[in-house]
Amino acid sequence: MDLNERIRNRLESIERAGEKRSMTEPRGIDLSSNDYLCLAEDPRLKEAMLDGVRRYGVGSTASRLLRGHREVFERAESEFAKFKGTQRSLYFATGYQANLGIFQTFLEEGDVVFSDELNHASIIDGIRLSKAEKVIFEHGHAEDLRTKIESANVQGERFIVTESLFSMDGDVAPLDEYAAICRDTGTNLIVDEAHAVGIYGKKGSGLIEEAGIGDEVLLSVNTAGKALGVAGAFVSGAEWAIEYLIQRCRSFIFSTAPPPALAYALTKSIGIVEIEEDRRNRLIELCGKFSLLLGEAGFVVPERPTQIVPVVIGRSEDATAVASELQEAGFDIRAIRPPTVPEGTARLRISLNVGVSEADLERLVVLLRNAVTKQIETGFFV
Ligand SMILES: Cc1ncc(COP(=O)(O)O)c(C=O)c1O
Repeated sequence: MDLNERIRNRLESIERAGEKRSMTEPRGIDLSSNDYLCLAEDPRLKEAMLDGVRRYGVGSTASRLLRGHREVFERAESEFAKFKGTQRSLYFATGYQANLGIFQTFLEEGDVVFSDELNHASIIDGIRLSKAEKVIFEHGHAEDLRTKIESANVQGERFIVTESLFSMDGDVAPLDEYAAICRDTGTNLIVDEAHAVGIYGKKGSGLIEEAGIGDEVLLSVNTAGKALGVAGAFVSGAEWAIEYLIQRCRSFIFSTAPPPALAYALTKSIGIVEIEEDRRNRLIELCGKFSLLLGEAGFVVPERPTQIVPVVIGRSEDATAVASELQEAGFDIRAIRPPTVPEGTARLRISLNVGVSEADLERLVVLLRNAVTKQIETGFFV
């Protein structure tokens, strides 16, 4: 079998499993993006981006450690660090690149990293690049984590890594319990705040702030292309930790710096998020309202509603069928299928943003209930 044949077989099996993906333009009411605060289209940020391009040009032309550096990156980093309440932060081109880089930099041979079973692909890939041993713990399960840490034979350092708000499940990690485990066992905590930054906590800096465990966290990864509405990611932590990333983090060092205009726009975005508390509160209010509606319609809802609402369907084809029905009714809701989520848990991932009206949510819940019930009646719903 040559390569062409092998790949054609692979593509056919993807199609047979109902997992063929395609890229489609946004259409309908946005219930699938991560633009939770509707900042991606904010006129103030658009203007800042244009102004940034006029000031700094389009491309950065080189990596930060060569000619690609501009003072505006440092300005955005120091504003973000202040917002996050850490000594320093470092701006990466993407969150994926940040996660790819930080584990390889900090985890050495003899270390053990304890990783939540539902952590994002970028965390999994980052750990793969390190020489540390990996131990998976049950999703969000502090007791399982403690048992595993206490029974592990570790020569070097221990690390825990978790998302704070899980991207495909919408649930929140028990960060305070993890922080206690870290204190008791001398473990280092790394938290991916991709979906929490900009929303949770009094200042909106994330769930670390809300849990009041900033001092216990070695590093946090904060994407800037979701609630912050722009692109890239800030890794935040102590001065020494960030300095080490600058010296050793391969995905930072060996990559062209992002366009400086992005950093310029982000200085604006951070300010807006921090000051416009109403915007964040509106999102939290919508989460509660949507959860209530879903509960009334017979759906099982979590104790703590967040802006990410999974509706697990089961089979990929069924998830796609329900998503198509909702799309036809004007809602941009996408099916999330393996390998993004575990086998047999294909789902709709509904993500709320402050631009959605309560009337739309009411209409959606009726459609959703009908669509899902139809799947049950035809025997497709798992
Ligand atoms: C939990 C989590 N971490 C990291 C990333 C990667 O961030 P970015 O999209 O900026 O590459 C994502 C993106 O989807 C994510 O959900």
